[in-house]
Amino acid sequence: MSNSKIGLYYKNVMADIIGSEHGITSQQMDDLAKETAPLISKLNAERNEGKTPYRDLPYKTEISQDVQDLASRFEEECENLVVLGIGGSALGSIALQTALNPYMYNLDSVQREGPRLFVFDNVDPQQFGSFLDWTSDKLEKTVFNVISKSGRTSETAAQFMIVCQMLSDILGAESLRDHVVATTDAKKGTLRTITDELRLRCLEVPDGVGGRFSVLSAVGLFSAAMCGIDIDLLLEGARDMDKRVSDTNFSQNPAAINAAIQHHFYNRGKNISVMMPYCYALKDLCDWYRQLWAESLGKEVNLKGEKVFVGPTPVKALGTTDQHSQVQLYREGPNDKLFTFLQVDNFDKDIEISPAPDCAPELGFLAGANLSRLLNSEKAATEYALLQSKRPCLTVHFDKVDAYSVGQFIYLYEVTTSFAGALFDINPYDQPAVELGKEATFALMGHPDYQDLAAKIQPVNNIDEKFMV
Ligand code: PA5
Repeated sequence: MSNSKIGLYYKNVMADIIGSEHGITSQQMDDLAKETAPLISKLNAERNEGKTPYRDLPYKTEISQDVQDLASRFEEECENLVVLGIGGSALGSIALQTALNPYMYNLDSVQREGPRLFVFDNVDPQQFGSFLDWTSDKLEKTVFNVISKSGRTSETAAQFMIVCQMLSDILGAESLRDHVVATTDAKKGTLRTITDELRLRCLEVPDGVGGRFSVLSAVGLFSAAMCGIDIDLLLEGARDMDKRVSDTNFSQNPAAINAAIQHHFYNRGKNISVMMPYCYALKDLCDWYRQLWAESLGKEVNLKGEKVFVGPTPVKALGTTDQHSQVQLYREGPNDKLFTFLQVDNFDKDIEISPAPDCAPELGFLAGANLSRLLNSEKAATEYALLQSKRPCLTVHFDKVDAYSVGQFIYLYEVTTSFAGALFDINPYDQPAVELGKEATFALMGHPDYQDLAAKIQPVNNIDEKFMV
C-alpha cells in the first residue's frame, strides 16, 4: 500500500494570478462548476449502464490474474520481451516501462527484474532490421507479444508476419506456441483467427474498450508484469482515483475540474494543451496522453451530427530539456496554450552536486544542492516566467513516481477525456478519421478490395516535377 496521492493544482490558471484577460475569474469558475457538475452524474450513469467499460478495468481481477499467470509461465526462460503493436496497443506499455523501471533497465541486468523490453510501434526497416539481426540468435529466450484489437493494422500485421517466418525458419513452426502471446479481441478479427488457427497463447482486449483506453487491461499489463512492475498497485491507484473522479461534488473532482479548465481555455483561443513533466520517467506518459487527447477529442461532428471541427492540440515538452528549446515561444509567442506541469516531490534516487572547481567560484551556488532541488527549482522558475507572461499553468503533483501514483494519473486522464468529450459534445471513443489512412495504405499495398481507392490516390502520389525545386 502506498499513500502517494497525486493532486491537480489549478490556482495558476486563475485571474487573480494572471489577470482577467487570460485567467479564469471566480465568477467564471462558478459557471464552469454549474456547467460541468451535471456531467459527473451523467458519466457515472453511463458507466453504470456499461457504456464505458474502460472505467471498470481496475476492478477486473480476472484480467490481472490471467496476466500474472502467463507472466510467471515465462519467468524463467524469457530474457527478451518484444511488443509488436501501434497506437493504443503500444503507447501504454512504453509509458509504464519508462515510468516504473530504471533508465538503464535494458542494459543493466542488475537493475532489471524481468526480461529486456522492446516495443516496436513502427515499420521502419532499418530500425526493425537492426533489432532482428540482434535477436535472431537469441530467439530461444525471446517472447513476442503481438497486440492488435482488429488484427488488420498493417504495421502490426507486417511485423508479426516477419517474426512468425523468422521463428519458423530458426526454431521450427511449432515454436510459435512458446514464443508468441497474442493480445486481441476475444471473438472477432484477423488476429483472433490466426490465434485460434495456430493455437497461440493469448490474452484479451476487452470488449468495448478502444486501444487508447486499454492500458489497464492485458494490453498494458502483460509487458508490465513481465518486467517486474507491480500491476496490483497500479490498479489500486486507478481504483482510488475512480472514487475521486466519480465524486459528484465538482470542487472535489479532479477530472471534472481539469476537463472544465481545458474546455474553457479552448473556447478562449488557447487551443494548445502542453504537458511538461519535470521528471524523465513521466515523459512517455505524455505520449500516451497525446494520443488519448488527440484521437478522442479531435472530431468533425458533434453528437447532434453538426460540423464542429473541434479538438485541442496536445503537445509534449520535457523539463528542463525543452526550456532551452520551446520556452521562448511559450512566453513571447501567441498566448494560445494551457500548460500542465508534472512535478515530483520525492525522487527514488537523488544526487548531490559536487563542489565547484576553484577556478569557477561563480558555480559555488550549485554545490551541495541535490539535483532534485535544481530540477524542481527549474520547474518553479519556468512556471513563474510563464505566469509573468500571463500564461495559464496547471500542475499535477506526484509525491513520488510509483505504480500507485501512475495508476492514478492514467485513470485521471482517461476520465478527464470522457468529461472533455461531454463538454465538447462529441464522441470521444471513436476515431473515424484514422480509417481513411489505414484503407489508403491497404490500397497502395495492393489489397484487392481497395483497387478503386488506389486509382484515386495515384494522382497525389505521382511527383509533378514542376513543383519540385
Ligand atoms: O486507440 C486506438 O483505438 C488506436 O490507436 C489503435 O490502438 C491503433 O490504431 C491500433 O489498432 P489495433 O489494436 O486494432 O491494431
